[in-house]
Amino acid sequence: MKVLVIGGGGREHALCWALGRNPEVGAVYCAPGNAGISREFSCVNIAADDMDGLAKWAAREGIDLTVPGPEAPLVAGLADRFSREGLRVFGPRREAAMLEGSKHFAKEIMGEAGVPTARFEVFDDPARARAYISKQGRPLVVKADGLAAGKGVVVCATEAEASHAVEEIMEIKAFGDAGRRVIVEEFLEGEEATVMAFCDGDYAALMQPVQDHKRAYDGDNGPNTGGMGAYSPVPAVGSEILDIVSNRVISPVLGAMLKRGIRYSGVLYAGLMLTRNGPFVLEFNARFGDPETQVVLPRLETSIADIMLAATTGELPRRRIEWSRRASVCVVIASGGYPVAYEKGIPIRGLDEAAREPGVVVFHAGTSAGPGGSIVTSGGRVLGITATGESIADARDAAYRGVSRIQFDGAFHRSDIGLRAVKAAGRAATRPGGGVG
Ligand code: AMP
Ligand code: GLY
Repeated sequence: MKVLVIGGGGREHALCWALGRNPEVGAVYCAPGNAGISREFSCVNIAADDMDGLAKWAAREGIDLTVPGPEAPLVAGLADRFSREGLRVFGPRREAAMLEGSKHFAKEIMGEAGVPTARFEVFDDPARARAYISKQGRPLVVKADGLAAGKGVVVCATEAEASHAVEEIMEIKAFGDAGRRVIVEEFLEGEEATVMAFCDGDYAALMQPVQDHKRAYDGDNGPNTGGMGAYSPVPAVGSEILDIVSNRVISPVLGAMLKRGIRYSGVLYAGLMLTRNGPFVLEFNARFGDPETQVVLPRLETSIADIMLAATTGELPRRRIEWSRRASVCVVIASGGYPVAYEKGIPIRGLDEAAREPGVVVFHAGTSAGPGGSIVTSGGRVLGITATGESIADARDAAYRGVSRIQFDGAFHRSDIGLRAVKAAGRAATRPGGGVG
């Protein structure tokens, strides 16, 4: 079986890695890929948004399964385009991907499905948004309706901040057309977690929970990023919460979509706030998370190619999906200045030494080939150093041993990835009757 992964980040490296381990997969291609992916798999020089180019290439090569990584091609209709060509895609069609493509649409579906989510109002007119904000007198979150590469959300402590966010999004148009409409919603307090699910129509199989670390610096300080590291499992997300996510979030959403005649097929990503009143949905994504994928896939014991194929043929309910009990941690190494401005083309040292650390896998994100066989930085998030272990503490130790081997000018990483879970395990172990985890 020939598989094509679309994209070129850490998530796509992890997808290629997982697919490449399945015996039924003969060849893994990645378009456009990156320097790390091209060491192990065949990279194809076609951009992730070149739908025609990708569809023609996949048809010519006889690709059996295509797995898009990023949201933009899905929201632009890649799955629709591929299926017109008779090609199999593991990912939602355009109208289903609108669960990520429009926050307003996602809120409407959540309303119909009775999913717990923050109370909100939607505005096309900045003056009305401001009038509403001035009446609230409490922290609010202002969100661009459309796709903004993960940047269109502003958490606002004061009225002035919220009003400024409306200006940025609707008037300065910092996110272009994505900001023609804004959602203003109540601020929710709690710990965040991600639960993704393999979905097909009315059936969903939940993956193991993950916690991402969205802020740039230790202690959840600094600007929001795409994600600076992740771990799985998550002590704060036990089976009770997973049941709620399954029965009150994912299944009802798939049902509400079907009522509108939309079959959701692919990964549905629920970004959750674990509030005192249970899990609330912050957002849906129509794809695998990055870096969530890097920690979930090493724990998957069933063939991912088989799961994805089953989801495209209606056979997902007949698959048993097995997960390892081992823990997994991914630490992102970023370019100095990320997520704002950063240099590219900086040589990276220590890649092989990091990969030789026991239990460590080095996933490349923003890397490209430099002069003389070197590998240089080409993005904000450069590498995801991932490790598994018997516990989060073990996986963390191994991942940070890998991190210590990598050097490039300006490199930085968070040193507290997974620390919250390690502390929670420590507290559980010191309680009477608590085991050692
Ligand atoms: P989103 O892209 O909607 O997940 O938002 C990005 C980040 O903004 C989330 O990961 C949260 O940290 C924060 N956020 C979004 N919505 C809310 C909310 N209603 N209350 C508190 N924080 C939020
Ligand atoms: N790590 C957050 C995301 O993939 O959207």
